[in-house]
Amino acid sequence: MKKGSEMSSLSIIENAAVLVENEHITWLGKMEELSMSSMKETDVLDCMDKVVMPGFVDSHTHLVFAGSREDEFALRSTGATYQEIASKGGGILSTMNAVREAPKKELKKSARRWVNAMLQHGTTAVEIKSGYGLNMENEIKMLEAINELNTEEMITIVSTFLGAHAVPPEYRDRRQEYVTEIIDRMIPYVGAKKLATFCDVFCEENYFDLEQSRAILSQAKQFGMLPKLHAEELSSMGSAELAVSMGAVSADHLEQISPRGIEALAGSDVVATLLPGVSFFLDHPHAPARSLIDAGAAVALASDFNPGSCMSYSMPMMMTIACTQMHMSPAEAISASTLNAAAALNLSGEVGSIENGKKADMIVLDIPNYKFLPYHFGENHVWKVVKSGVVLEF
Ligand code: NIG
Ligand code: FE
Repeated sequence: MKKGSEMSSLSIIENAAVLVENEHITWLGKMEELSMSSMKETDVLDCMDKVVMPGFVDSHTHLVFAGSREDEFALRSTGATYQEIASKGGGILSTMNAVREAPKKELKKSARRWVNAMLQHGTTAVEIKSGYGLNMENEIKMLEAINELNTEEMITIVSTFLGAHAVPPEYRDRRQEYVTEIIDRMIPYVGAKKLATFCDVFCEENYFDLEQSRAILSQAKQFGMLPKLHAEELSSMGSAELAVSMGAVSADHLEQISPRGIEALAGSDVVATLLPGVSFFLDHPHAPARSLIDAGAAVALASDFNPGSCMSYSMPMMMTIACTQMHMSPAEAISASTLNAAAALNLSGEVGSIENGKKADMIVLDIPNYKFLPYHFGENHVWKVVKSGVVLEF
């Protein structure tokens, strides 16, 4: 991963060539240094006048869902807040109702549409969370859908168990019992069946407090899952510090992080994953990207694609918002969407950069240079996607 000032250095090779054998990158360098004579059988993809870069890694999404929430969007547009809508039974719980009613096949059908569109927009690896089932049966249904999609689709999918996304209505007056259900029943099952690489918690007022979050993540570690945290989104509560003390792989959101939280993250290897699309979509304050990077933290960008707080999976769009609203440079935004995002999924040894031995996940952009990507926003600049060494046809 790249921390702090390292994020602004990109290794750029002009007139470059990349050699791919099967799924992996086996050589890269200047075109003129490549000896073509030894490669009679090689297919060539001519990328003249284009930019080749690592595929985007979207390390935080909730893309398995049913239904949609454009009515909430319309309410917010005339002044209602995300929290007001949630307190009236909308928000996460409205998607929970839709997901509980949907058969696994339907969840997969809509998710398939999203992941294919993501690939076309340059995302070659994506994390997907459960968290709209909120009971044993439906959380498992979501995780099975996510894992099946990973074997059936080209895109790399990493699954996260987020049973602690909200307290379901049947536990409204006995919230701690839902935490016990997660700890005693859900995590042991998810762990035993290896349904999730990560475990995440929405650590927030009216959702799960620090102590409950710590208990859930400790149990998840016992069962082989790596911790992540939705931290400091709506209120500042010390959840960034909790992420550090739990050895989390990432702490995500951080719109309300305190100076102490920034210091804690900067002194650790926890990736600070920022979600610019959420602040843009909900009209919330942006996370202090500049302070985090200047303090030396490793910052990643992700879409948080979900029907409530960010109905977009466009990584270039997230990069544009990061540059214009959070004052990240285009180079920092690229590091944050590739190598650091891979680190947020514990995959930085395999994807996230064009390096010898890494998986051949690359995108070819029809733009003159990398700064053009966040600059010319609202258009898909992806010309070709190479996923695991295969040039995809759309
Ligand atoms: O990351 N913050 C909590 N969860 C999601 C929102 C999910 C939803 O509104 O459906 C998020 O923003
Ligand atoms: Fe989220």
